[in-house]
Amino acid sequence: MTAKVGKIPVSDGDVPRHIAIIMDGNGRWAQKRLMPRIVGHHAGVKAVRKAVEFCSDNHIEVLSLFAFSSENWRRPLDEVSLLMDLFMKTLQSEVNSMMKNNIRLQIIGDKSGFPEKLQEKIREAEAQTQQNTGLTLLIAANYGGRWDITQALRKIGERIAQGELQPEQISEQLLNEHLVTAGLPEPDLFIRSGGEERISNFLLWQLAYTEFYFTDRLWPDFDKNELANAVASFKSRQRRFGHTGEQMVEKKTLANL
Ligand code: IPE
Ligand code: IPE
Ligand code: MG
Repeated sequence: MTAKVGKIPVSDGDVPRHIAIIMDGNGRWAQKRLMPRIVGHHAGVKAVRKAVEFCSDNHIEVLSLFAFSSENWRRPLDEVSLLMDLFMKTLQSEVNSMMKNNIRLQIIGDKSGFPEKLQEKIREAEAQTQQNTGLTLLIAANYGGRWDITQALRKIGERIAQGELQPEQISEQLLNEHLVTAGLPEPDLFIRSGGEERISNFLLWQLAYTEFYFTDRLWPDFDKNELANAVASFKSRQRRFGHTGEQMVEKKTLANL
């Protein structure tokens, strides 16, 4: 009997459609050089440019970058406010290059937590790049995976309260459609720089079947080579999505006929 293997978004050997990165290690990078942590965040912006360029050149559809978590407000006030300034300046300075490179920017996270001026800049940058058809760049700012699931449930709850939906209609698909990543492929490859091996409340729901890649390299030192290594590691893996290894080989063989 031929095993029925369902539709699988990306099989082994393929290029990832969506790469999600926790850009960690900026502070330690600066501290190692006896410099203030913010210097590390500035250096981190350069590494962001390289990662974006790599993904654009390699026809990756979506790149998600964790820039500021919902828990990062717990940091010293001066670091938080310098990060906000950097975010604002970077948005301003990068829009032109995003337009030139056909990049569509989307900020995911609780934007209402940001100063009004920054919210305005975000709206402008998103609107300006919205029609671009190349790489979709998701910047997760004031983002938390738990927040994302909670806000999706709140929207669904409101629709139920208005009589638009029945509780029986709640499904994984419906929840997906209310997350901030609605309409985008799930991450195929997750990368965390900086040596820690944890999710830190990034895309909790969306990472269910993502391949993980951890590196000790601190984010400001993360370059195209390192990204290519991560993609090579991804390509060498067999994703099974609950099937057996043999089923996956069979599916691949059938696809290649
Ligand atoms: C990641 O680098 C950037 C942000 C969280 C804004 P860190 O600032 O967490 O760097 P380390 O982990 O302290 O080295
Ligand atoms: C995760 O890094 C968030 C970002 C990279 C923006 P953290 O440095 O804040 O994570 P923890 O606190 O070490 O888990
Ligand atoms: Mg950190």
